[in-house]
Amino acid sequence: MIELSRQQDGSTDTTAFAKDVAKGLSQKQKSLSSRYFYDGTGSRLFQQIMELPEYYLTRCELEVLTENKQDMAEQFSNGGFFHLIDLGAGDALKTKILLKELSGQQSAFDYVPVDISGDAMQELSESLQQELPQVKVEAVVGEYFRALEWLQENKSERKVVLFLGSNIGNFEQEESINFLRSIRSYLQTGDQLLMGIDLRKDPETILKAYNDAAGVTAAFNLNLLHRINRELNADFDVSQFCHHAIYNPLEGVMRSFIVSKTDQDVRIGKADITIHFEAWEAIHTENSYKYSIPLIGELGQQCGFKIETVFYDSQKRFADVLFSVL
Ligand code: AVJ
Repeated sequence: MIELSRQQDGSTDTTAFAKDVAKGLSQKQKSLSSRYFYDGTGSRLFQQIMELPEYYLTRCELEVLTENKQDMAEQFSNGGFFHLIDLGAGDALKTKILLKELSGQQSAFDYVPVDISGDAMQELSESLQQELPQVKVEAVVGEYFRALEWLQENKSERKVVLFLGSNIGNFEQEESINFLRSIRSYLQTGDQLLMGIDLRKDPETILKAYNDAAGVTAAFNLNLLHRINRELNADFDVSQFCHHAIYNPLEGVMRSFIVSKTDQDVRIGKADITIHFEAWEAIHTENSYKYSIPLIGELGQQCGFKIETVFYDSQKRFADVLFSVL
């Protein structure tokens, strides 16, 4: 397993976290980055979200991959040996469908899962060793960009990049352009990108996926405050905050917030800062952008990619889009 998790300037992850939190909560409009959702507890809560009846995304993408695995695997394998690079692999529940198919087709490839969670990559390496011992695995722990840099230095062979689960949805317009251009800069003719996107649909369906009846999404969102308490020695009274998520159909974005129920002060020890909240003041914690095929085609084109094939689930709620490089 390759670990790239240390900051480039030599500071620790906790210092970077403290800095980001202090900066985000000192702004006029408070915000915290959704990348901090995924500590141990957050990752477990996200696993529970994926099983919720309201959270259709994961089930839809599983259907897309299960129904199209043969076609996908054949298109990946077309040019001979390749590195299958899985950005944000997590437990790789979805990728395992493709790994089994590729391995069954006797494709020449190795598997490079990338994730910021070291625990997740350790567990994944072990479970693949059990379930698919014939697949060569090289797990990388680190940020997407650091991992891509590392790949650039070390691997010049053909690459197929997976960016599944609608993770692109977390990025603002400009961030997705930068991200895709950065991926493109590490690719060459013959390489491919398979990207999962949540499609625009009935706003009610989307709204329910982020406001589940059991309150798991609320717990997932509020865990950010618990994490800050645990890791940065803060004193958030989490019962004095609530989850709020709304969908804007004009922009096609789900936005999640943590709202302060009262006028209150919170001390964050490790950031050496005290934050004041007015009653009903909000912290913006996440964007989940939804796309249409024309929009994703346009985004791809701006970044040097061309749509090869669009794979849908039977209800056309979700798509996995296979891009080639222009
Ligand atoms: C992992 C970014 C795809 O935006 O749907 C689930 C995270 N947030 N419920 C999403 C999430 C609230 C999820 N992504």
